[in-house]
Amino acid sequence: VDGRLTDLLRCEVPIQLAPMGSVSATPALPLAVARAGGHAVYPALGLPPQALGPVVDALVGATPAVGVNFIVPLMDRGSLELAAERAGYVDFFLAEPDPALVRLVHDGGAVCGWQVESADEARAAEASGCDLVIAKGWESGGRKRIEGATLLPLLDAVLDAVALPVIAAGGIATARGVAAALAAGAGGARVGTRFIASDESDAHPEWVRAIVEASADDAVVSTAFNEGLPQPGPHRVLRSSIAAAEALDDRQAGVVTLAGAEISVPRFGAVPPTRDSTGTIAAMPFYAGQSAGAVTAVQPAADILSDLRAGITARV
Ligand SMILES: Cc1cc2nc3c(=O)[nH]c(=O)nc-3n(C[C@H](O)[C@H](O)[C@H](O)COP(=O)(O)O)c2cc1C
Repeated sequence: VDGRLTDLLRCEVPIQLAPMGSVSATPALPLAVARAGGHAVYPALGLPPQALGPVVDALVGATPAVGVNFIVPLMDRGSLELAAERAGYVDFFLAEPDPALVRLVHDGGAVCGWQVESADEARAAEASGCDLVIAKGWESGGRKRIEGATLLPLLDAVLDAVALPVIAAGGIATARGVAAALAAGAGGARVGTRFIASDESDAHPEWVRAIVEASADDAVVSTAFNEGLPQPGPHRVLRSSIAAAEALDDRQAGVVTLAGAEISVPRFGAVPPTRDSTGTIAAMPFYAGQSAGAVTAVQPAADILSDLRAGITARV
C-alpha cells in the first residue's frame, strides 16, 4: 500500500468515501467511514459558509481523516477559505486545475487534491501544485466534464503522466474492485455508489432501492439533468430517472431539503433527492455508477468499509 496517501489523508487505509451531493447531506456518513479507518470527503456544492461551517466543525472535531470537496462552477469563495483553514484536506472537481485555488488551500494549511478525467488534466493538476489526484473513470457515477476513458486506460495514462499519488475512482464497489485498482497501480480507491446504500446515507429511500435493484447497464450517461446549471455536462444516472422525468407532466420535480435549505428542483434539475425531499422523487436524478450492479443490500457504512478493506489484504 502507498504510505504517501495514508500520510496525506491521515487515515488507516487508502479507501475514500467520494463526496456525493445529497448522499452526505449531514456529517453522518463521512463520520462513519472515517471512524472505520477510511478517509471521507464532504461535498460543499454551492453551500455558503453559514451552512458549511457547522458541518466542517462537526467533522474535524471528531476525526482528522476528513476533507471537503468543491464543484468549482458552484463554489462559494468564503466556504473554500473556511474549509482550507479548518479541514486537513480539500479537493476540486469539474474545472481545469487552477494554481491560485491550490495555493489558497495550501495557505490555509490543507492538503490539496484534484479529481481528473484525463492524463492532461492530471499533468495540469501536478503543475498547479496539487498533492494528489483522483482519476475518475467513465464508468463512475455522477457528473462529468468530458467523455473520458474508463478506469484502467485512464489509470495507465495518469500514472505515466504524473509522479503524484493517484486514487482510482469509478466502478469500484467490492473488495475485488479495490484489489484490482491497487494491482493496476493506484495508491488508493475512491468509492461512491456503494455508500449510497448505507444506513448512514442521506439519499432518499427510493433512490437507495433503485440502486440495490439496478444492474450495471442500468447506469447510463446522459445530458438530461442540466436544467438551471451554470455549466451543463454529461452525467451517469439510472435510466429509470430519465424516463420518469420525461414522463413528468409538471415543470417542477419537487423540493429537496439540504443543509437546512429547501431547494425547489425543476423538471430535469440536477439536484438529487435527500431522504426528506418531497414531490416526484423518481423523476429526480438517481446518480449512480456502473458499480450499482454490485450493490445488493443496504449496510452500515463500517461494514461496507471492512468489506472493501479486504481488497487491500487480498493483494498483499
Ligand atoms: C450521487 C453522486 C454524487 C456525486 N457528487 C460529487 C460531488 O459533489 N463532487 C465530486 O467531486 N464528485 C461527485 N461525485 C463523483 C464521485 O466523486 C466519484 O468520482 C464517483 O462516485 C466514483 O464512482 P462510483 O460511484 O462508481 O464509485 C458524485 C457521484 C455520485 C454517485
